Amino acid sequence: MTTLVTTVTETLRYRGQVGQWSWVLHRVSGLGTVLFLILHVIDTSWAAFFPEEYEQVIRQYQSPLFTIGEFILVACVVYHAFNGLRIIALDYKPAWWAYQQRAATLVFAATVVVLLPTFALMVGHVLDFYGEEGRDIAGLDEIIRTQAQFALGFVVILLGALLLSALYGLITRSRGTFDLPGRFEVSLWTFMRLSGVLILPLVFGHLAMMHVLQGVFDITGGGIEIVGTNAINDSGKAVEFVGERWNMLVAGVAIWRLYDGLLLALVVLHGFNGLRYVVNDYAHSPLVNRALNYAIVFGAIALIVVGMAALLVGVDETAYEIATDLTSWILLPFM
Ligand code: HEM
Ligand code: HEM
Repeated sequence: MTTLVTTVTETLRYRGQVGQWSWVLHRVSGLGTVLFLILHVIDTSWAAFFPEEYEQVIRQYQSPLFTIGEFILVACVVYHAFNGLRIIALDYKPAWWAYQQRAATLVFAATVVVLLPTFALMVGHVLDFYGEEGRDIAGLDEIIRTQAQFALGFVVILLGALLLSALYGLITRSRGTFDLPGRFEVSLWTFMRLSGVLILPLVFGHLAMMHVLQGVFDITGGGIEIVGTNAINDSGKAVEFVGERWNMLVAGVAIWRLYDGLLLALVVLHGFNGLRYVVNDYAHSPLVNRALNYAIVFGAIALIVVGMAALLVGVDETAYEIATDLTSWILLPFM
């Protein structure tokens, strides 16, 4: 905790150059994206397991609060991706360090160049949606109630991990932090770079489909062609959007399931290992360090299992019907 406070105060005090802010932004954008990812994978699995709750979640994604968050998220992903490429290039070509300041400035410029047209298109989707009268928009109280459940879940997981860490300390009399074998750490270092390069086209493609070609608002667009498929969303339900995408076959292969599965495995492993780097920089008490590392390892496994289970189970027409029948009933208390 003291280390975290020192980092924040020193970052604000220290008059470093562009490289210092690149480091801060890379860390903050990575962490912000991981936080979103945790909620997003759990939410998406509801399309397969709890169709009616999935409708409610997508309705919340379409609220003004999440819409602002969506712009921040896209900015985080774009900046982190470009800066990640800069880090990878400098790691493998140390001679280029002479140009690192210029490269950091170039990353900022490239981010702005990509974000300007992207935001313009996203604003178009926002105006189309909010311009139409009679929209059923999720209220702040409803959002706080739903998100509080996630916050409670995080607290329970952290308390459980602390208990496990204390028990481990008592049984083994260990005073050590959570350390992985050195050779494994080296492999993870390489994995962070390899996965970063592979994630880039996957996550940019995903964001292009969900924000640019279509917006988050089109997920519930009745009668609209669903991005990446030839299907029309007849019911206008979010589960039908996901179901049609996951059931789309090209030469017998469910391409969007494959795509999402690859994206899921790569971003969870990359993001959670990044989270581990951050935790190990600040949490030096063995009890807390072990607890946070346990939460990260079990959290990553659980998220991959939940996400893959949803992809395997899939979404069928029964789910569309459940969502259609129950949405009005489920939303009644919030209206
Ligand atoms: C607000 C922004 C986003 C929206 C609206 C969105 C939308 C969706 C939707 C509708 C699905 C369902 C499957 C499909 O249709 O392909 C999905 C799945 C997925 N998305 Fe996103 N996405 C967003 C941002 C992101 C970001 C930034 C990441 C990566 C960091 C990401 C990673 C994933 C993964 C891994 C899955 C598969 C989950 C599973 O298997 O259960 N998404 N997304
Ligand atoms: C889009 C392509 C991406 C690239 C090229 C990329 C690249 C990188 C690189 C090179 C690092 C430094 C690793 C190290 O210090 O050893 C890193 C760290 C990190 N990445 Fe990514 N990444 C990408 C996407 C993502 C996504 C989608 C997430 C979130 C799910 C994420 C979360 C993180 C986190 C939390 C860190 C640790 C930050 C730190 O130590 O300060 N990254 N990334």
